[in-house]
Amino acid sequence: MKMIWAGRTAGDVDERLNELNASIGFDQRMFEEDITGSMAHAFMLGRQGIVSPDESAKIIEGLEGILADIKAGSLAIDPAAEDIHSFVEQVLTQRIGENGKKLHTGRSRNDQVALDLRLYLRREIGEIFSLAASSASALMAVAERHLETVMPGYTHLQRAQPVTLAHHLMAYVQMLLRDLQRLLACGERTAVSPLGSGALASTTHPLDQALVAQRLNLNGFMANSMDGVSDRDFVLELSSCLSILMMHLSRLAEEITLWCSWEFRFMALSDRFSTGSSIMPQKKNPDLAELLRGKTARVYGNNVTLLTMMKALPMAYDKDLQEDKEAIFDSVDTVKICLQVLPPMLQSATFFPDHMRAAAAAGFINATDCADYLVKKGLPFRDAYRLVGELVAECVAKKTTLEALPLKEYQALSPAFDEGVYEAIDLAACVAQRKTPSGPAPESVKKQIGEAKKKLEALQEVAGGQSHGN
Ligand code: ARG
Repeated sequence: MKMIWAGRTAGDVDERLNELNASIGFDQRMFEEDITGSMAHAFMLGRQGIVSPDESAKIIEGLEGILADIKAGSLAIDPAAEDIHSFVEQVLTQRIGENGKKLHTGRSRNDQVALDLRLYLRREIGEIFSLAASSASALMAVAERHLETVMPGYTHLQRAQPVTLAHHLMAYVQMLLRDLQRLLACGERTAVSPLGSGALASTTHPLDQALVAQRLNLNGFMANSMDGVSDRDFVLELSSCLSILMMHLSRLAEEITLWCSWEFRFMALSDRFSTGSSIMPQKKNPDLAELLRGKTARVYGNNVTLLTMMKALPMAYDKDLQEDKEAIFDSVDTVKICLQVLPPMLQSATFFPDHMRAAAAAGFINATDCADYLVKKGLPFRDAYRLVGELVAECVAKKTTLEALPLKEYQALSPAFDEGVYEAIDLAACVAQRKTPSGPAPESVKKQIGEAKKKLEALQEVAGGQSHGN
């Protein structure tokens, strides 16, 4: 097959060059963006009198036909074509003849591919945004049912202070809300047109860059033609947002995995979202949660690929940039499947408040509250701290809990103790008293959920305004 650029060279290339050089295998997924970008370019060429109105109309009609046929499955993308750009142009010329050859006036594949990728990622950012928003909603739905479900909060993976399942899950909702904000900001910067950059130094044709941007519902065009074809910071920005998002999912996935263990037994996944072992008949494994954790590695890996690919690239376009697509496509696909699995996995899971409560009771997580009780009786905190530490040591030695320790034993250590201590260290009361705006008290968390919902809605509204489609 003759390459689209045959001329300076014969264009008949060695098979091995083709294998390394061709990108059709992975850039074909941008066919729709490639064609809509070309339609906007052709429209502008006609408006500017660079091609005649009739030529412009014929090109656009030809492109519409190609798009419809690829979508309908009646036009197969030729795997032997060098890339999606060459393929579309070649089919256009086959179909409409000489006019097709005018499409590429004032344009290079360098600005074309940058545009395609920006349009493609804009759409994917919108989809990932919706999926991440659904995950936040799924977490909030579970939280709403567990405002009073007391569980141990951990530091160093040691039982530390009492929280509730709702409070714990809402921490992840806050992380996801920031992920959503990051995606929106990244979408804004992605949706800018590089068209008019040409190969690197723009063109002598009187292009209307603003018109192309407007036709594609983009936020204007890039101010510098060399920047337009050579930077991929928008790809890296998305890849970084996705790495952070996956880091959050991975932490949650790790907790789900732990909580499903018999050691914790705080929850169980439904059978539909669990797997078995081929040898151990008793096993029910949280593979999906483990995969959310494991897939994070690939997304980080792609991020490193992109950073490394960009490092020290001389201006302007370099073929290295072709390596951006497989990395970011893989991250986008990976994040999407993970976010599709998370909400139904959470919705169908069973939580065991009794086990959480038992873990909370056995964990001396009310020791701080016991010390605070003494402080309220007038003891300096450091003295109260030491006294309660001794009480805990006594409980550990006697295999009992602070709740079950007789008042006599308390009073043996300090006359400041009275009956009121039991109320002060009651787990539900310990949680209820932590009613600062960011704390775990059911009334606080209820408010936090209400505010998070409002924030989510506001973000969704902004996202709705952003996703004009291509
Ligand atoms: N496949 C190329 C890419 O992904 C398209 C641009 C090719 N430009 C060129 N001058 N070879 O970056």
